[in-house]
Amino acid sequence: MCGIIGYAGHRPAVTVILEGLKRLEYRGYDSAGMALIQNRELNVVRAKGKIRELEDKLAFQDPYHATTGIGHTRWATHGLPSEENAHPHPDQEHKLALVHNGIIENHTRLKRELQQLGCSFRSDTDTEVLSHLISQELKRLGDVPLAMSAALQKVEGSYAVALISLNGEGQIWAARHSSPLILGLGQGENFVASDIPAFLPYTREVVFLEDDEIVQITPSSWQVLDGSSLEHRNKEQVHISWDVQSAQKSGYRHFMLKEIMEQPQVVRDCLAGRTDSSRAATLLPELDHLPLPRRLHIVACGTSYHAGLWARNIFQEWAEIPVEVEIASEFRYNRRIIEEGDLILAVSQSGETADTLAGLRQARQLGHRVLGLCNVLGSSIAREADGVVYTQAGPEISVASTKAMCSQMTAMLLLALHWGRMKGVLEESVCRDVLRGLEDLPAILEAELEGMQQTAQRLARKYAWCRSCFFLGRGDHFPLALEGALKLKEISYIHAEGYAAGEMKHGPIALVDPEFPVFALAPDNALQSKLLSNLQEVRTRGGPVICLAPPGLDQDMDDIWEIPAIRDPLNGFLFLSALQLFAYEMAVYLGKDVDQPRNLAKSVTVE
Ligand code: G6P
Repeated sequence: MCGIIGYAGHRPAVTVILEGLKRLEYRGYDSAGMALIQNRELNVVRAKGKIRELEDKLAFQDPYHATTGIGHTRWATHGLPSEENAHPHPDQEHKLALVHNGIIENHTRLKRELQQLGCSFRSDTDTEVLSHLISQELKRLGDVPLAMSAALQKVEGSYAVALISLNGEGQIWAARHSSPLILGLGQGENFVASDIPAFLPYTREVVFLEDDEIVQITPSSWQVLDGSSLEHRNKEQVHISWDVQSAQKSGYRHFMLKEIMEQPQVVRDCLAGRTDSSRAATLLPELDHLPLPRRLHIVACGTSYHAGLWARNIFQEWAEIPVEVEIASEFRYNRRIIEEGDLILAVSQSGETADTLAGLRQARQLGHRVLGLCNVLGSSIAREADGVVYTQAGPEISVASTKAMCSQMTAMLLLALHWGRMKGVLEESVCRDVLRGLEDLPAILEAELEGMQQTAQRLARKYAWCRSCFFLGRGDHFPLALEGALKLKEISYIHAEGYAAGEMKHGPIALVDPEFPVFALAPDNALQSKLLSNLQEVRTRGGPVICLAPPGLDQDMDDIWEIPAIRDPLNGFLFLSALQLFAYEMAVYLGKDVDQPRNLAKSVTVE
């Protein structure tokens, strides 16, 4: 979704901000803009479309020597993507400008009140309300932090804002409520941004801001204040271990491909320090203060939801813990029974997804315990949960999530083993076997990924004509079929549905004809023969079948894609990679914008 970067330092701000915005592109956006103060004058430049449009516009301006400025990429919520609606939004007198992520829920009422005071609005955004509101308060109170505090207390909804004002040249003021904002601390330069990659080439020292804090940065100082009392707050400085390399493409054509290919390392990193296969033990001190869950409620969105579905049977089988898995936007509004001793597991790569975060808050308000399973260090879900297990996958940049799911699956396997052993229901030998299997998995993936990509490329050329297709699986492989379909529709815009294969004859098979291919996941397990019968029913109706299976499948199919036979549920990692690569190669063949698919955002921080 929208991205923010603010820079106060010694370098030309235009360059730093443009670079920062490019590193935030992956969040999804439809316009961009920048505000700078130079020679006691506020300059705002905005453009609809990609950052290069903004660059083109900047090229026609006088070269900027400003060393302080704010930039934004906007993902439209209120008002069409257009130059007028792009951020930053200046106030009426052009004395301040601000950028905003989130949604101001009471903007209609605030706008009416401001109009009565004589403010005229130039955009359809909820954000413009904020610039006028702060400007009004600034006239009344004469001081930026006082004005921000007073204005933000009138606002309902979510925001991360960054502001520059003629009242304080060389300074940036920022604040957050339910939308991420991070401070980057450099030498003679400081940053605020909605995500770390924005300033990663300059510093790895960060401070995570809490809700309702206000921050001021100058090139040589920073301070964090309580949003209402404006008292000084002591903050912990954190060192980020990612480097610029991990947030760049490293020679790959797309981030998505890089992230798929990184999966062997992702499994290794997620396991690092957490297993001892000789003792058949898992080491998860993050769970020490949490009692063994009586029942688990997994709450998540998108790909993280599919990871939760995949893990359900595993928790039930290994740890004998009953599991409910629910889409976060439904969890919030459905009536459900959560009892004493139940644990909510909030799964989220970004740790910022609005619905998952709201589900967490609601559950905690009702007195339930929440464990976060997150990738992004210091994210809202990670901070607000009663405990957090980090998936340690490194930055995921491509909008379509890939390696995050691999890391979530790995982490949930560890959780299931851990609780199974703690509860005394999982045999030591099974635990040891799985841990050894997990330790061997990265090498197997490494050996297979390149060949898989070639097969995916060949199949993409053969099937790229299709307008619709099914992905079928059974048991643990049904959630993977859902994920295969999601990946294909997200990046190639081909209509795809995931189904439990046994459901085909209850309706969906009516759609099958020679132009409706079916992609089936057929691991060698107890359900394979049932799945093969379902596939023969498809073939009888003329549907082309691509069957992903271990070697030796003696069946008449249009295409058999062989992958190594490894034990359930670890073979899920190979199936997942194949599905990701198939979607990737289809999108590349069709010439789509793989890393930034239309209409989608990486981190959905609004409901
Ligand atoms: C967005 C992304 C998806 C992601 C989902 C959940 O829709 O485009 O790729 O799976 O959010 O994100 P989370 O960060 O909570 O895992």
